[in-house]
Amino acid sequence: MPQATYHFPRGFLWGTATAAHQVEGNNTNNQWWKWEQDGHTNGTSGLACDWWGGRWKEDLDRAAESGQNAHRFSVEWSRIQPTPDSWDEHALERYRNMLRGLKERGMTPMVTLHHFSDPLWLYEKDGWEHEEVVALFEKFVRRTVEALKEYCTLWCTINEPNVYALSGYVAGDFPTKRRGVNVAMQVMANMLRGHAAAYRAIHEIQPEARVGFAHHHRPMVAKRAWSPLDLLMRKIRYDGINMGFPSAISTGVMRTPVAKVSIPEAKGTQDFLGLNYYSVDMVSFDITNPKELFTHSECPPGSDMSDTGFIANIPTGLFDSIKWATRTFPNLPIIITENGVEDADDHMRPRYIAQHIHQMWRTVNFNWPVKGYFHWSLVDNFEWERGWTQRFGLWGLDVETQKRIKRPSADLYAEICKENGLSSEMVQKYCPEVFDKLFPV
Ligand code: BGC
Repeated sequence: MPQATYHFPRGFLWGTATAAHQVEGNNTNNQWWKWEQDGHTNGTSGLACDWWGGRWKEDLDRAAESGQNAHRFSVEWSRIQPTPDSWDEHALERYRNMLRGLKERGMTPMVTLHHFSDPLWLYEKDGWEHEEVVALFEKFVRRTVEALKEYCTLWCTINEPNVYALSGYVAGDFPTKRRGVNVAMQVMANMLRGHAAAYRAIHEIQPEARVGFAHHHRPMVAKRAWSPLDLLMRKIRYDGINMGFPSAISTGVMRTPVAKVSIPEAKGTQDFLGLNYYSVDMVSFDITNPKELFTHSECPPGSDMSDTGFIANIPTGLFDSIKWATRTFPNLPIIITENGVEDADDHMRPRYIAQHIHQMWRTVNFNWPVKGYFHWSLVDNFEWERGWTQRFGLWGLDVETQKRIKRPSADLYAEICKENGLSSEMVQKYCPEVFDKLFPV
């Protein structure tokens, strides 16, 4: 049996990612809380992982003991700016405390400034639909970065603007008052303007800052490779989901199949690309689905499927996503800001982790500038409209008792972080079923 280790470069960031609304609990002043109370989600966030109550300490202890040297978390706008005219210094101090906590544990922080949640007062003004949000977001970013800059230089302005705009305004799963592709494009354009304003503001406050956004990249294949219609639908859906933000950041024009908006100030506004990769979609023509531009998407048949059927384990999709990033943004550092799978019993996760990290290693070996990896997630947390039905944590969570339960994947990931690499012994121990794929003779 071959014995080998896929090593990563010195200084590689290994961590997990979380988001405020998903872990803090009692975020009663944002639009998600309201959406939950109105019955749109599968259960409510409640106490979540009780990070606001202080349990971030025990979770970050576990992360640090497992060799993680970084953590990505988000701050909650509705806590920092509870009303348009007030700032909560106490909330900012809590985040400063968390950042000190990371420093004490020897972990590099990445702070996300917007991860799907908006203050209720902003939601009441239609959130990101109108351009006035840009100045409001910039104001919030300035205040927050001023307060936290002593402890953080790695910033993610907005998490998955494409998912925020499309899951809300097109699919109707995220909180919105209106629906439609056009309004989704308006929202995406305003998020680009907000991102660009934030990028400049952060650099003004902290010249050494490294600023990016987290892009959800979804590779896609046509269902029938011979069908011109499926190929066309694949392209429409691919460009619609994947290309809005990136096109504007590389050219200053946001291009999607339904909108072309000039946003010159967005050009060049990133110091790294945050890449979130989960799975690949198979796309076909669907005459019954005008809402999604006559496209239909499903998991490729015969895939290795996750426990709720949400994610197909297709590790080469991570390779393809990184390749796409290097072609779209030559020489730009890339950080994998999310990658993971829902798997309550941890049957698939160990191989999902090993196989994805192996694909990431292949890209590093080509000298493509991948600088870090944040697994989603550290501990089970509130999965938006899917609530508690999906379990993405290295540690499980008993929502009633707040008890954490370690999954085998936590040990595998700890070994990877400590080794700064993936070894044949680890694969043999945690996911022997893919040994031959990762270490062929
Ligand atoms: C989001 C996370 C979410 C994860 C898994 C990503 O799109 O950024 O907040 O928990 O997917 O569903």
